[in-house]
This record gives sequence, structure tokens and C-alpha cells, in this order.
Amino acid sequence: MFNLELFGLKLNTDYIGRNFMYFEEIDSTNTFLLNKENTIDISGTVVLAEFQTKGRGRMDRVWKSDSAQNLTFSILFYKEPEIFKYLNFLNFSSTLAVAVSLENLYQLKPELKWPNDILISKKKTCGILIESVTNKNKIEKVVVGIGINVNQNYFKGDYNYPPTSIRIELGKEVEREKLLAEVLNNLEEFIEKMKTNRNHILNEWKSRCKMIGEKISIKQNDTIQFGIFDDIDENGFLILKTKTGLEKITAGDLIPQ
Ligand code: BTN
Repeated sequence: MFNLELFGLKLNTDYIGRNFMYFEEIDSTNTFLLNKENTIDISGTVVLAEFQTKGRGRMDRVWKSDSAQNLTFSILFYKEPEIFKYLNFLNFSSTLAVAVSLENLYQLKPELKWPNDILISKKKTCGILIESVTNKNKIEKVVVGIGINVNQNYFKGDYNYPPTSIRIELGKEVEREKLLAEVLNNLEEFIEKMKTNRNHILNEWKSRCKMIGEKISIKQNDTIQFGIFDDIDENGFLILKTKTGLEKITAGDLIPQ
């Protein structure tokens, strides 16, 4: 059971996580916050669920997570034009917030996989799904959904990418409350940085992305493109060096070769 008091003691933010909603079971924390019927309009609201019956991943995949072992949560950003201008950087800030937390708390060496996965020992330990709601062509809310495999010891069934958890990598159980607070503390800091110094965010991100310079393929729907991962540009797009030149990739699944 998640200890709200312990979490509160470690939370050091101005607004992220100050409005906190806890569910033992929900369909999906992202779906809940995106739902037009809910009237939650407090930016920084965090919704945490012990279990999601319809947890969602990128590309319409399912996000599977055992009950009360991991962290599955979403953060709402409501009417924040300064943040919505740079959604790719919100993506980078979110992955960095998780990666830096794993470094600070457990001395792990996470690797970032474009666009927003976090790997440890080349296996996936965290995935992020960012979704938005628009009204009259204007973004009204953005929901950052984060799933971190924390204390789950076994992963049964099929996964798009081989999974792991912090517990498996460290060889011991960790405190989810402390980790969630650390992630939210770091996220708020990175979001402030993103408003003034996006280069810093990009450099921090790239320094943890070990696949730059390597042969990769990118799968988008039914097409696969092969090439060398040349760089990430200032908008957060992947630059792929192919036989015919440099291509800008805006979305897709990266498959290492
Ligand atoms: C991915 O790697 O495909 C993204 C996974 C995102 C999972 C999180 S868990 C909390 C939030 N609620 C969801 O339904 N999905 C996100």
C-alpha cells in the first residue's frame, strides 16, 4: 500500500503533486485525466493508481503492471501555454526526471531510448505516454503518463521490448513513495529549465542516449527505415542518416540493430 504521508514528507515541489489523487484501481490514469467529464483544472495534479485495468502505452499498446508493485501515474498540465509551446521538451524533461532520479537514489545508469523510454541494462524500466486535449484548435490540457517498473520481480507474457524493474537491477526492493517524490521534484525543476534553457535539457538528454551514432531502424506503422542515428535536433526529432541523405523522424519505434 502506498504511504501518502511518507510521500508528502519527501515532496519538495511548488505545484506538481500538491493536488494528489490516489486510486486502488482505475481504467487508466491518463484516460481519467483526459476525460472531458472531469472538471479537474489544477495544473500539477497527480493521479496515482495501484492497478490499471486498461493501462495504455504508445502506439495503442497495453501497459501491463502488477498491482501495488510499481508506479503508474499521470500528471495534468492545464492551460500552461509556456509549457505547451515545447511539448517535445516536456517529453525530454519527463524522461530526464525519471533517469536522474534513478541515478540519484540508486546510482543506476539509465539509458534513454528515443523518444521516451528508459532502459537499464538495455531493458525497459519506464515508459511515458503524453497526450493532450484541444479546444478550438488550442491545447487545453496535456497529460504526462508515466509507468515505472519498480518492485515487480517477474514479467510474464509478451512485451514489445524486454522489461526489467529497479528491484531486479538493484537486487533489493525500493521505496515507491521516495521515488515518486524524487521524480516529481526533478520534473518541476526540468520544466522550469525548459522555459529558459532548452539547450541544457537537450544536452542532458543526449548525453544519456547511447544509441546516437549507432545503426538503427525506425518502424512507423508498416514501414521500416534503416540508417544511422545521427542526432536529435532542437525540436526533439530524430535525424536518421540514410543512403539518400538525412531524414527527420517525428514518430516511430526505434529498433537497435
Ligand atoms: C509506453 O512505453 O508505451 C508508454 C507507457 C505509459 C504507461 C503509463 S502508466 C500511467 C499512465 N496511464 C496509462 O494508461 N498509461 C500511462
